[in-house]
Amino acid sequence: MAVEIRAIEALLQENRSFSPSAEFASTAILNDPAIYDVAAKDPVAFWAEAARELHWFKPWDKALEWKAPDAQWFAGGKINACYNCVDRHISTPRRNKAAIIWEGENGETRTLTYWDLYREVRRFASVLTEHFGIKKGDRVCIYMPMVPELAIAMLACARIGAIHSVVFGGFSAESLQDRINDSECRLVITADGGYRRGTVIPLKRNVDEALVNCPSVEGVVVVRRLGHGLTDETFTRMHEMRDHWWHRVAEDVSGKSECEEMDSEDMLYVLYTSGSTGKPKGIVHTTGGYLAGCYATTKWVFDLKDDDVYWCTADCGWVTGHSYTVYGPLANGATIVMYEGAPDFPDKDRFWSICEKYGVTIFYTAPTAIRAFMKWGPEYAQKHDLSSLRLLGSVGEPINPEAWMWYQQYIGEGRCPVVDTWWQTETGHIMISPLPGITPTKPGSATRPLPGILVDVLDEKGNSVPLGGGGYLVMTHPWPGMTRGLYGDPQRFKDVYWSKYPGIYFTGDGAKRDEDGYFWLLGRVDDVMNVAGHRISTMEVESALVDHPAVAEAAVIGKHHDLKGQAISAFVTLKGSRAGNSEMADDLKEHVVKKIGAICRPDDIIFTAELPKTRSGKIMRRLLRDIAEGRALGDTTTLADPGVVQSLRERYEEEG
Ligand code: WT7
Repeated sequence: MAVEIRAIEALLQENRSFSPSAEFASTAILNDPAIYDVAAKDPVAFWAEAARELHWFKPWDKALEWKAPDAQWFAGGKINACYNCVDRHISTPRRNKAAIIWEGENGETRTLTYWDLYREVRRFASVLTEHFGIKKGDRVCIYMPMVPELAIAMLACARIGAIHSVVFGGFSAESLQDRINDSECRLVITADGGYRRGTVIPLKRNVDEALVNCPSVEGVVVVRRLGHGLTDETFTRMHEMRDHWWHRVAEDVSGKSECEEMDSEDMLYVLYTSGSTGKPKGIVHTTGGYLAGCYATTKWVFDLKDDDVYWCTADCGWVTGHSYTVYGPLANGATIVMYEGAPDFPDKDRFWSICEKYGVTIFYTAPTAIRAFMKWGPEYAQKHDLSSLRLLGSVGEPINPEAWMWYQQYIGEGRCPVVDTWWQTETGHIMISPLPGITPTKPGSATRPLPGILVDVLDEKGNSVPLGGGGYLVMTHPWPGMTRGLYGDPQRFKDVYWSKYPGIYFTGDGAKRDEDGYFWLLGRVDDVMNVAGHRISTMEVESALVDHPAVAEAAVIGKHHDLKGQAISAFVTLKGSRAGNSEMADDLKEHVVKKIGAICRPDDIIFTAELPKTRSGKIMRRLLRDIAEGRALGDTTTLADPGVVQSLRERYEEEG
């Protein structure tokens, strides 16, 4: 083991770049570098050509209408996302191909062919329209475990033109309530529960708690996921009139729903994500451009072919699950793997056992998971035959070169190209990534923008930073999957993304370009943390803390963490000059979990009589980060009381 780790260090020392093998390149969907130049000459024509591979009921009038920040892609075109992901494959030999291979945490499996998926999606779409009267444009909230019905529900919404809002099953009842109310959902689709690391996540109970204050909701559909024994009062009390079992309502409908012909710019979904204030933003995606972007990037970046078995480990509660578990792969007619549970249940080899069992060829996961695999040791992967794998992907946060090399060596067995893909909920699809048959990779770099994507690194004044330098990452040209706005908040959309540099999309990320023009992502430049690949705002956690009756004030920062990338540290002042203790700290952590969800649980809580503030009263988080990470304190001259940080630092070091 020690020898192997040194081997990786040696590889890193060499500062190598990895060119695609001749073998991989020769059969890759894209292997001619000329594609970068072709796309650069006319990005709009380039994307239009990609979009033509989808099924359009009616062609568009104009590929792009652009008046910053409002983009319309393929306006006038008529299209349906579900049709492209399901119906289209039914009249081809893919009809009998596995669309979804599902495995539950307890080991049960289900396989749905494209025909099965077609039948189930049509039936559930009929439930939505015939039973609940859901119409085009209505919002439907989906709060479910990773079971096939989650994908079926999303596709059924798309089929009838309803807008889905998927809320990750790890969010609390209160977070669910906020999201349901923000977009006024008429219906909630959930399950009695789901399994995670051997315990039951009580989804239906959370829904009941949320719906106490959701006036827009008229009905709830409940998938029976738990066994009969568990589907009792503990987890599921069905409210008469409001709640319906999925399997029951599905019996009473025609099952003959047809696809609604949507305008390319009709809304497909809204997905909430954190910004630098306490209130989550409802990111809006529309139909034609988004689907074209997901379709094409899935095919190009993952070199996706008909005989692949593709597994993206992301939950559908995040954008990665939308774009690269559901819409992108299914629009390509791919076989996807879907897994319900944790990577270490019942043991730390679960992912590799799934790869071996189903012969996974393409595997896409997050750096935080890769770092956990690294910590557990390569023996878990080595217990399994991973020779079916041919390509590996990473997403969600910067991947450190060590983790990249470990992934390439131990999971990819030195054979598989690794694609580090940079994008955001807002961008809809991958923006910066290698093309595996063309682009040489460097461990830790997302390499270069995809063809047809125009990216720059700017300084504070808006000047492009020369190669070798760092600055703010921006997009200088519209792209098909770009968000069309924040649900119900056009002003915030302009302020957050389009005001720093007029007419240019500001990502909120810092980046450096090396002498070869390769991009190295540096993380967020705003008050947004990235904890295990999840985007969490410091303000969100602070609001949850000050909501506790004992808390006077709180400041939250993300501090470096070896596995999670960042961990949450909270500096808290209690009311009435009370001193904190470990019980209080635990109580506060639980309070945050209850308010937002377990992904936001602070790692440590530091009680302090005062927080470092500027004379105008602004909390200086930068200094708190310095303290938490044990760095020399940065500039303290603007502090109202410099003594505060000094004593805080001493306390922090004492308490370890
Ligand atoms: C933020 C977006 C994209 C789907 C998952 C997260 C960070 C994402 C990378 C990467 C460096 C990355 C950025 C970005 N990020 N991928 N490959 N390298 N950083 O989506 O929750 O919208 O978060 O995640 O900071 O802005 P999200």
